[in-house]
Amino acid sequence: MALDEFLAELDELKREAVAAFGAAGDDDALEAARVQFLGAKSGRLKAVQKGLGSVDKADKPTAGKRFNAAKGQIEAAFQAALERLAKRAGPAAGARQFDPTVPGILPRLGHVHPITQTIEEVKDILGRLGFTVAEGPEVEDHWHNFEALNIPADHPARDPLDNFYLATAEKTEPLAASQSTEKQWLLRSQTSTVQIRVMEKTKPPVRIISLGRVYRPDTADATHYPMFHQVEGLLVDRHVTMADLKSVLRLFGMSYFQGDTHIRFRPSFFPFTEPSVEIDMSWTGGWVEMGGAGMVDPNVLKAVGYDPEEVTGFAFGLGIERMCARRHGIDDIREFFRNDVRFLHQF
Ligand code: PHE
Repeated sequence: MALDEFLAELDELKREAVAAFGAAGDDDALEAARVQFLGAKSGRLKAVQKGLGSVDKADKPTAGKRFNAAKGQIEAAFQAALERLAKRAGPAAGARQFDPTVPGILPRLGHVHPITQTIEEVKDILGRLGFTVAEGPEVEDHWHNFEALNIPADHPARDPLDNFYLATAEKTEPLAASQSTEKQWLLRSQTSTVQIRVMEKTKPPVRIISLGRVYRPDTADATHYPMFHQVEGLLVDRHVTMADLKSVLRLFGMSYFQGDTHIRFRPSFFPFTEPSVEIDMSWTGGWVEMGGAGMVDPNVLKAVGYDPEEVTGFAFGLGIERMCARRHGIDDIREFFRNDVRFLHQF
């Protein structure tokens, strides 16, 4: 075949192919054009390529080059048509495929930790009984954690083995003469510290609760953890008695456990209450120890400038983890701090 003839055929093919790809209005038309021009077996490009074999030997390099250039242009035209259709099909196809009956994908939502839920609920219940929320620091001094609570210097509760003392002994403000000379800070071991902080600043009557973390160097087991939460209650007024304490605790228990709850007092000792009791609660089943309580010791009232002849008061401290565990039937409080979402998910 003469070179001229071959090139004319090639140009004609290119012109037709580019026009066909450019005119293809949908996927089917484009596919038909692709098979016609670029089909591997009987495509027209293939047929022209065969003609390349019969071009005069001397003209073959030129013919080959021109063939490759034309093939490249045809393929590019096909590619452009593909992209043009894909772009146009995009939103339209999306709209066609939208099925409003398919259930939506719910995003996974986090939620409040069970201990925080319990804290909020306790605030709510005791708030309805007239207690307002007071707060105190977690890093405390000796005065608030021990001395003002009638815990003398040689008392075992001050033992370094039973407390987290801080390594820094720096105080930012000077201690008042009445306060401890031991310039040592510790992580509070009980929320009773807040009783003192409130009474130092308020005149009776006082009716507060305080909820928060306390720290004790206990080995973690099913019922102990080196950090846990307490709710402290304090009510100081004229003529306050143990009967008031028991009523408040019973009403609280009935509301928190949502059922008939009974309160049992067992004689105990705390330096800051006299008499002192351990509180057991019973709600569908056996007795569970929930904390300690008692009538505020006259020495404590004196330490904050109250007159023990004028006012009396009760105080209690309950364990939040215990309460929450009892209500939900959890037998290991370490679960609260493992942060396993499979556990937390259930609340
Ligand atoms: N602070 C005591 C404790 O942590 C509990 C308590 C609070 C006892 C108030 C009496 C009065 O064990």
